[in-house]
Amino acid sequence: MTHDASTEPAYRVDSLVAEDIDAYLEQHQNKGLLRFITCGSVDDGKSTLIGRLLYDSKMIFEDQLASLESDSKRVGTQGQELDFALLVDGLAAEREQGITIDVAYRFFATEKRKFIVADTPGHEQYTRNMVTGASTADLAVILVDARKGVLVQTRRHSYLAHLIGIRHLVLAVNKMDLVDYDRETFDNIVADYRAFAEEIGIEEFTAIPISGFKGDNITSAPSPNTPWYEGPSLVERLETVEVAGTAAQARSFRMPVQWVNRPNLDFRGFSGLIASGTVKPGDTVRVVPSGKTSTIKSIVTFDGEPGEAVAGQSVTLTLTDEIDCSRGDVIAAAGDPPQASDQFEATIVWMSDEALKPGRGYWLKLATQTVTATVQEPKYEINVNAVGSPGEHLAARTLGLNAIGVAELRTERPIVFEPYDDSRALGGFILIDKMTNATVGAGMLHFSLRRAENVHWQPTTITREEHAGLKNQRPRVLWFTGLSGSGKSTIANAVEQKLNLMNRHTFLLDGDNVRHGLNRDLGFTEADRIENIRRVGEVARLMTDAGLIVLTAFISPFRAERRMVREMMDEGEFIEIFVDTPLDVAEARDVKGLYKKARAGELKNFTGIDSPYEEPENAEIRVNTVDMTVEEAADYIVSRILPLK
Ligand code: ADX
Repeated sequence: MTHDASTEPAYRVDSLVAEDIDAYLEQHQNKGLLRFITCGSVDDGKSTLIGRLLYDSKMIFEDQLASLESDSKRVGTQGQELDFALLVDGLAAEREQGITIDVAYRFFATEKRKFIVADTPGHEQYTRNMVTGASTADLAVILVDARKGVLVQTRRHSYLAHLIGIRHLVLAVNKMDLVDYDRETFDNIVADYRAFAEEIGIEEFTAIPISGFKGDNITSAPSPNTPWYEGPSLVERLETVEVAGTAAQARSFRMPVQWVNRPNLDFRGFSGLIASGTVKPGDTVRVVPSGKTSTIKSIVTFDGEPGEAVAGQSVTLTLTDEIDCSRGDVIAAAGDPPQASDQFEATIVWMSDEALKPGRGYWLKLATQTVTATVQEPKYEINVNAVGSPGEHLAARTLGLNAIGVAELRTERPIVFEPYDDSRALGGFILIDKMTNATVGAGMLHFSLRRAENVHWQPTTITREEHAGLKNQRPRVLWFTGLSGSGKSTIANAVEQKLNLMNRHTFLLDGDNVRHGLNRDLGFTEADRIENIRRVGEVARLMTDAGLIVLTAFISPFRAERRMVREMMDEGEFIEIFVDTPLDVAEARDVKGLYKKARAGELKNFTGIDSPYEEPENAEIRVNTVDMTVEEAADYIVSRILPLK
């Protein structure tokens, strides 16, 4: 069916409230539901095409076809968060935090299939929008204007779609009406695209000559205007392509546990969304990472108790044994469980205005697991505009907004995972800033760099309590922070002398000294400072295990790392002492002559001059060195940390 411009309807779809969308998705969980994205700029005729699809498919209104406005929220009902995609879920949360991601989801259906199309803006800056929309899609429609052919943007979108794991691509050569349905024009564009696709490893794509405006080859093919075209219409292609759910069902069973459902003492169920495979009562399963096995007793879904449940369904499983299993664990086929690891290589897409800080602890969410993770300096950044050419890999020390890079990633404890190529559910993750709770990155795990099970905790017999008991004191970390020249080392030294006279067992770790030995390899870039503090934190932790009162004197300019060390210590053990000397005072003293050098430009990244210092917000103790002498400050600190036992 084609329409001419005069009879073209206003393509309007009604908005759905969040619960309706949940209900809609719930009803159609992988039951012939195809998720796809459209990529291209406004000029390529994307809106017209989507409007055309919605109109020609005669949207089914009883299903409340909807456009999910980019600012609407998908709210999960209790325990039934619609985990329809890991990445999107995290990003939905981000949306709630007020960061705009311009992805509009639209729903439509034909007689054969139901569809969700994520409409992502084509603007250069919108890598993160596209990644968000693409993260759950089975297919991408790459729109090309027949008059313009394959552009940098076409390549970028194709690359991102491929990167995010979309295995089916449609190259829709649009506006054929404006090139008189010329076959040669179409063939040339397809040849161009094929050469590029081969370079970046895209195995398969379907090229279709269309006119979104006139309707050619949208619902049926060939259009009388393109008698030379022998392939399917766009809708035919969308109706017949294999959906990811089908492929996921063929793999081994995995269900990340979302919550443990325990309404009464007689019932203990494990709820979650099946990521892959199928499951039925009597199956032997293994809980990872613990490795314990059991047998499936029953399966409950929304529709009742099916004999079998498959990938894409939300279920509650009960087991025949009372075994330990909680949120974050994965229930898997006993014979083929996923691995756990704590070091990975990954591709990371950065989504925050504030660049990645290598070495900083971020929350990493993967499936239903949340752990602290650090990212190393990127191995390289991918120049998305040059994919397939020698300029593809760029050297990078960090990743800025919309940048994509490959880096090593470490998690504080092992997580259950699968490579992203095998499983989007267990290989895709997001990174969250611990201070602001904003989603700052998304990524795809490639592989594990080591098997976590090779590194164990060695149990020791003499405990930290016994170490401290023998010294007749409570271990502490007195963490001095402040500008260079603020007086940290001097005051810490005076405090240590006083504690020594009180027969306390102490040790002073000082920035300048530690940088001659343990941290000799570190400079003053942000990444090096973060690593400096991480190592000092670890040493301080070991020393408190040995029962000591540890004093540290480091600028430690970032809140996030001071907080990280605080979290490594037991409750009440970490005492942050802000040596509050204003910059002009420290600079006037300039004990080491470093401020002078920094002002002269001879010393780069100097704290307070061209590198930031983030003042403590809730330091336990603050000393003002303008009003207090060293002696007074030291006395004051000692008085504040009593009693020492
Ligand atoms: S931190 O930022 O990583 O915590 P740290 O306390 O270890 O710094 O070292 C700071 C000391 O190194 C300063 O007191 C100063 O003597 C010296 N230093 C040399 N270069 C710099 C610089 N660029 N910024 C700050 N301190 C520097």
